[in-house]
Amino acid sequence: MHGIVLAGGNGTRLYPSTLAVSKQLLPVFNKPMIYYPISTLMLAGIQDILLITKPNDTSHFFNLLGDGSEFGISLNYAVQAEPNGIPEAITIGRHFLGTNEAFLVLGDNIIFGTGLSNTLNIAKKKLVGSAIFTYDVKDPNRYGIAVENNSNEIVELMEKPQNPKSNLAITGHYMLANDSIGRVNELKKSSRGETEIIDLLGQYLQNGTLTHERLGRGFAWFDCGTHSSLLEASKFVETIEERQSNMIACLEEIALTKGWLT
Ligand code: DAU
Repeated sequence: MHGIVLAGGNGTRLYPSTLAVSKQLLPVFNKPMIYYPISTLMLAGIQDILLITKPNDTSHFFNLLGDGSEFGISLNYAVQAEPNGIPEAITIGRHFLGTNEAFLVLGDNIIFGTGLSNTLNIAKKKLVGSAIFTYDVKDPNRYGIAVENNSNEIVELMEKPQNPKSNLAITGHYMLANDSIGRVNELKKSSRGETEIIDLLGQYLQNGTLTHERLGRGFAWFDCGTHSSLLEASKFVETIEERQSNMIACLEEIALTKGWLT
């Protein structure tokens, strides 16, 4: 399985902070936001990672992360000319993926919790079509959501519904089989002019190969797309790091633990 971090988009909800700087380079407490999604991929055991940025941002990310060897990983770079939709990451990454499965992570998504590596690895082992990760939220209308039946099976997916049928948000972490490369080409643009990840996931739901891991009470999930959520994530990381002697999303530490660095 190869990793893709989608770190494009205009970050309009964070204007004016993102007018001159990519959202995913803004700090979340003591390190740039991009460290967090990369750490998630590393915890899933992934060393081959493609970072997709806006055209003018690549050099900034490269100045920060280089080829990844400092963190025991291999980082490749690609650009997305316009924010045409999350599934476009698979089209852009198709040569990088080759015959591999993909773990696509949104560059502004942070997850933290005991047993995260285990949860990611369970999803990876079970993967047939797509694996998603869900999280209970108070404000489901801000996210893609999953609706479950009484047996905890997903029966419906909805993107930012006005009248949500559940409060189970779909986080920005998507494991996808290699056939997703072909499937993304069939997606039609939505009314907001983008292809939608929920439509791709819907195909796997329909053919019975969509699995999900529910991130329970012991997890924290942040989508740092607004000033408030960015501050909230920073405060969370500060609280944990100041209380313990451990760091969250320390890429060198993860690499060392995995034996990718000496
Ligand atoms: O954070 C989880 C949510 O992410 C999911 O629950 C939703 O189903 C999913 O659609 C997405 O919702 P957002 O409203 O957060 O999507 P947004 O358009 O803000 O894009 C999310 C991130 O992906 C953002 O950091 C920018 C980046 N992005 C987005 C698009 C559409 C790109 O780099 N390129 C794109 O074309």
